[in-house]
Amino acid sequence: MQTENYRRQILIGLGLTLVAIVAMGVAWLTEPARMAEASDTVAKASILQGRQIYVANCTPCHGTRGEGGVGAALNDKVLLSKATDEVLAGFIAVGRPNSLMPAWSQQNGGPLTDEDIRYVVSFIRAWQPTAPTVTTGVVISDAARGLSLFNGTCFICHGENGQGGGIAPAINNPARLGALDDNWYRQTINGGRPARGMPTWGTVLSPSQIEDIIALVDAWRKGEKVLPTTTVADLLDQALFALSQKDDKDALFYLNRAKPLAFGPGLAQLDPIVATIQSGDLTKALSDLGEFRKQWPIGDAVKGAAVYKDACIGCHGSDGQGGVGRRLKPSQFIQTSTNAELLTLTLTGRVNTAMRGFAGRLTEEQLADVIAFLRTWQQP
Ligand code: HEC
Ligand code: HEC
Ligand code: HEC
Repeated sequence: MQTENYRRQILIGLGLTLVAIVAMGVAWLTEPARMAEASDTVAKASILQGRQIYVANCTPCHGTRGEGGVGAALNDKVLLSKATDEVLAGFIAVGRPNSLMPAWSQQNGGPLTDEDIRYVVSFIRAWQPTAPTVTTGVVISDAARGLSLFNGTCFICHGENGQGGGIAPAINNPARLGALDDNWYRQTINGGRPARGMPTWGTVLSPSQIEDIIALVDAWRKGEKVLPTTTVADLLDQALFALSQKDDKDALFYLNRAKPLAFGPGLAQLDPIVATIQSGDLTKALSDLGEFRKQWPIGDAVKGAAVYKDACIGCHGSDGQGGVGRRLKPSQFIQTSTNAELLTLTLTGRVNTAMRGFAGRLTEEQLADVIAFLRTWQQP
């Protein structure tokens, strides 16, 4: 994480104002009442100063009102009542190892002075009187997505639906699930047991994917039945395979299942493909569907501009110039990726970067729209 990204304008003007206020405070030292008033003004000024630093450096991950996002919620009654100013300043100064939280103090290679850190702590502290209790985690996890992942990644060793039968123990095992909590599973999955054949998933899967698996583990613990999500892309692949085998009935079956799930301007192309299959021209259907699959998902750039403003602008900039996130206008990465690849990236994010997956926060349709919007930035 490059520190330059965080070195946004830390308001010099306000610094000067503060110096002036402190100087005035010194002039008033003779009178206690006025002194109290002055220190109140100094406190307000340092909160204001902290606000500027917070807005420039912390909002992309912790949210404009400290509600959390990629980073933990800071506007949280429990955190604020437990952590003293020194503890908060310590967190901020040294960051959190093995997380996205960078070290901010200059001693630790960050951009902020000790004074800056005191200002930002006073800004965060000012939330305390009205802070809500934040009980929900920042990740909206989804057991069905977890099952798709499990059946794609873990079943080789742990068996279909976690029933065991492979080289590894069953995970979907009520006695063991009842004895161990989510945190134990989270740690075991993240760290793995490399010496005993269990891979370290924390370096392969994104945190949101691991949370989806934890949601699945929790659903199994409660005895809930979980069905895997099927994506339009999966169904199109099944239909393509069926067509390649000249199996028109199967192809129609999968396309008819894909239709109600599909969305966006591309939807209109599916009916003609269905008609081509029904007419018996499977060769043309195969090539048309192949073409469609390459472009899937097709989004609406106008709607995508609004999604970008809501979800991406904080890190990638109002004109795609980059910031915490990379430059997207223009972006060679986008130009050389398919829509499907970009959908996967935006759904799952990149491990160990601030680019967290949007699965559970944005729909596939919204992401397809934002991808269509990003394409408009790639034209010369
Ligand atoms: C790139 C994302 C990112 C940025 C930018 C960022 N943080 Fe964090 N921050 C995190 C993450 C992630 C955590 C949770 C770390 C963990 O898992 O222990 C965190 C944790 C914290 C915590 C501890 C909260 C707790 O409940 O343990 C504090 C305090 C904090 N950040 C303050 C700040 C401040 C102040 C700034 C701006 C100067 C900032 N952060 C910028 C990602 C970020
Ligand atoms: C290459 C084979 C392999 C794959 C793939 C694999 N695991 Fe494992 N896993 C193992 C083995 C072997 C063990 C038992 C390790 C031991 O004996 O300590 C294990 C143990 C575990 C345990 C602890 C079980 C217990 O009750 O002690 C959990 C939880 C787990 N795996 C989850 C997962 C998840 C989730 C995935 C998919 C993301 C996964 N594993 C993929 C081989 C695998
Ligand atoms: C919290 C900050 C943050 C937000 C919000 C965010 N991104 Fe990112 N994004 C990043 C970072 C950081 C990277 C670079 C990751 C890396 O180092 O590989 C990145 C990388 C990317 C890339 C790959 C660029 C490349 O050249 O490798 C794309 C595409 C992208 N983001 C799209 C989006 C879209 C679309 C959204 C909104 C739906 C979004 N991002 C929201 C931080 C963010």
